[in-house]
Amino acid sequence: MLPSGDGRRVRISVIGTGYLGATHAACLAACGHDVVGVDSDPERVATLSQGRAPFHEPGLADMLLRGVDSGRLTFTSDCARVEDADVHFLCVGTPQKPGSHGADLSALEAAVTALAPYLARPTLVVGKSTVPVGTAARIGDRLCREAPAGDRAGIAWNPEFLREGHAVKDSLHPDRLVFGVRSDEDDLVLREVYAPQIKDGVPVVRTDLATAELAKVSANVMLAARISLVNMLAEVCEASDADVGDLTRILGRDDRIGSKFLNPGVGFGGGCLPKDTRAFVARAEELGVGAAVRVLREIDAINMRQRARTIDKAVSLLGGRVAGRRIAVLGAAFKADSDDVRDSPALDVAATLDARGAAVRLYDPKAMPNAVRAWPGLAGGDGVEDACRDADVVLVLTDWDEFRGIDPVALADVVRHPRVVDGRLVLDPDKWRAAGWDFHALGRGGS
Ligand code: UGA
Repeated sequence: MLPSGDGRRVRISVIGTGYLGATHAACLAACGHDVVGVDSDPERVATLSQGRAPFHEPGLADMLLRGVDSGRLTFTSDCARVEDADVHFLCVGTPQKPGSHGADLSALEAAVTALAPYLARPTLVVGKSTVPVGTAARIGDRLCREAPAGDRAGIAWNPEFLREGHAVKDSLHPDRLVFGVRSDEDDLVLREVYAPQIKDGVPVVRTDLATAELAKVSANVMLAARISLVNMLAEVCEASDADVGDLTRILGRDDRIGSKFLNPGVGFGGGCLPKDTRAFVARAEELGVGAAVRVLREIDAINMRQRARTIDKAVSLLGGRVAGRRIAVLGAAFKADSDDVRDSPALDVAATLDARGAAVRLYDPKAMPNAVRAWPGLAGGDGVEDACRDADVVLVLTDWDEFRGIDPVALADVVRHPRVVDGRLVLDPDKWRAAGWDFHALGRGGS
């Protein structure tokens, strides 16, 4: 928990209640503010209004319930309810535009259109969504033109760095707060909103709008690049019979490199890293600096190649014939502790093998409903054992703790052929080999 900020209780609206908005709204209420969350999806509003989380996020349901019970946190589909708020956070999604690498800003533009008529008093609109640089200034101009308050409706950008699966902790105790502001007054408003975090010692970096927008996408691009670099090393390890697991342990001991985000495997996915890397390239090209960011195309290509290499490995273990073969895929979420399957490498591999005629049986501790919704033909297993029954090969593609804890001796009795591909480096190769498994992992010696 955070210390009280001893500050003003700010009236806040949060537009968009996805992973980012729902968590942000609940955290702001936990910080003592009055918060109304707005979403166009009435079903989502109903769920949140009962203090329930519409997706799997550890700790969020408790915080939502506390907020709703306290009366400080409400949700609505009616944008008119934002009228009384002094600060408005824009938290809508900015996915990849269909048929393009750029970001689709239609939900953000629609949120501004809906919000502007209700901004009659001096107010601050604060963007949190990940956007191409230059968007904040454009929204600021729109507010000036469209809000009854005119230029007293200010714009600020305050990017959010929370990770799914750790969203509550990341929101309450962020590494840093970034305030992209145009004036001291706007900076002060954000300091009031985040008074508890600032009192708790969280550093604030004050900057301009463009740098704040870039901070978010740059962080994601750096993380994506790091993962692809390590996957590049995995491919070289494989070609030279070296072991990428040992290699990353050695690299991680160097303080300058560090051990976080150094896990090789089937690559990065989710609603952020892949689309942000592409959107960054698209925006740089618009700005005339496409040549400078060309490396990011390769980062994306390495990442997608990891999925293809995982499939190739499974196919080669099956002697090149996939049709009708039983493949157990453990993991559908794009990472552990999440039920999100957006651009999930695990689900992509499972769906591709299914499309090639394999008898895929999928299991994920939390993401099965979303996986089956995204790829209706996929057969789901009730658990690890059920998914692996009579399997010709087992693929472990999400880094759930449950998979780390699998007993290879017991599972060997369940499958038809004890062959496994560890796509996340979560299994102990010695233990699995000792239990009789033909063990493989991208970039691991002996694979
Ligand atoms: C990412 C960033 O980490 C957050 O800081 C950011 O706020 C968020 O995007 C966002 O833009 O909203 P998230 O998408 O929740 O967060 O997930 P990450 O933990 O970054 O993982 C992304 C992908 O990379 C996952 O598929 C994960 O399995 C993969 N990964 C991660 C690796 O393959 N290797 C690693 O070492 C780490």
